[in-house]
Amino acid sequence: MSAIISIENLQKTYASGFTALKGISLDIAEGEILALLGPNGAGKTTLISIICGIVQPSSGKVLVSGHDVVRDFRQTRALIGLVPQELTTDQFETVWNTVSYSRGLYGKGKNPAHIEKVLRSLSLWEKRDSTLRQLSGGMKRRVLIAKALSHEPKILFLDEPTAGVDVALRREMWSLVRDLRDSGVTIILTTHYIEEAEEIADRVGIVNGGELVLVEEKTALMRKLGAKQMLLELAEPMKSLPGRLDDWKLSLAQEGRRIVYDYQPQADPDALTRLLAALEASGVQVTDISTRQTSLEDIFVSLIGDAKP
Ligand SMILES: Nc1ncnc2c1ncn2[C@@H]1O[C@H](COP(=O)(O)OP(=O)(O)OP(=O)(O)O)[C@@H](O)[C@H]1O
Ligand SMILES: [Mg+2]
Repeated sequence: MSAIISIENLQKTYASGFTALKGISLDIAEGEILALLGPNGAGKTTLISIICGIVQPSSGKVLVSGHDVVRDFRQTRALIGLVPQELTTDQFETVWNTVSYSRGLYGKGKNPAHIEKVLRSLSLWEKRDSTLRQLSGGMKRRVLIAKALSHEPKILFLDEPTAGVDVALRREMWSLVRDLRDSGVTIILTTHYIEEAEEIADRVGIVNGGELVLVEEKTALMRKLGAKQMLLELAEPMKSLPGRLDDWKLSLAQEGRRIVYDYQPQADPDALTRLLAALEASGVQVTDISTRQTSLEDIFVSLIGDAKP
């Protein structure tokens, strides 16, 4: 993996004495979409703010394209676009001016063709002469994205880009994020929506209490997601499973009153039919059957308790 961002043992204790990051290490690959999930106060915004050079780390270091985010602030910041969690823009400025001005802040020369392309891709072209206060909440959020893209960054941070955004617009944003990734931009987003991480991330990281408690390829997580359990309630409790069922991945639970079967529905579509036949042939009487799916939410809850992301 060629890392465009390399985070090494990053710690942050705010002036208040509160430690928001407790030693995070992570490499982010060029061209990937990484989704950071975590409950309120986990440290996601703090982490992003340090990479973007807005907050100073207490210790540890971050390299962006090989440059230190503290020492080489100008170089690293020029490579990064940030869509902040909070909406803070001049309400009386027009969309066109806001986005063009943002490009200038990064020392990039005027490029109206690029600004037009960005506004069109975010369905803001028709609104280019409107002032921000004339826009809906979802449109304002898209203006923030346009600002972040105004200087053609190689890395885009989206801090809860779809909070308070309707379902249709959320889907539009997902497709925009994928298009950006396909054009070579590396994307790091934070979200409270597990579905969002499942939908667009190449990799998912879970942050809790200032620590990165899990980071894994989405496909690997999906394999776990695909795992199902079948629970078979038995008429008579059993001490052990009949020998002829040895080939099945079964275990006994509830003091022998329940058989638990772990399976992957995609991998073996007719397994259930065969299992039921095998149970019948072994004289096992089943009174009830239920199934449950392991989801990213289960993984999330098992890692960090009941706190919702
Ligand atoms: N400037 C600050 N001074 C002191 N404490 C801060 C400051 N900024 C953030 N914190 C604390 O650091 C912790 C992490 O905050 P952060 O904003 O990084 O969380 P988050 O994961 O982005 O949460 P959310 O999902 O609510 O956006 C919180 O406990 C917060 O109160
Ligand atoms: Mg935050």
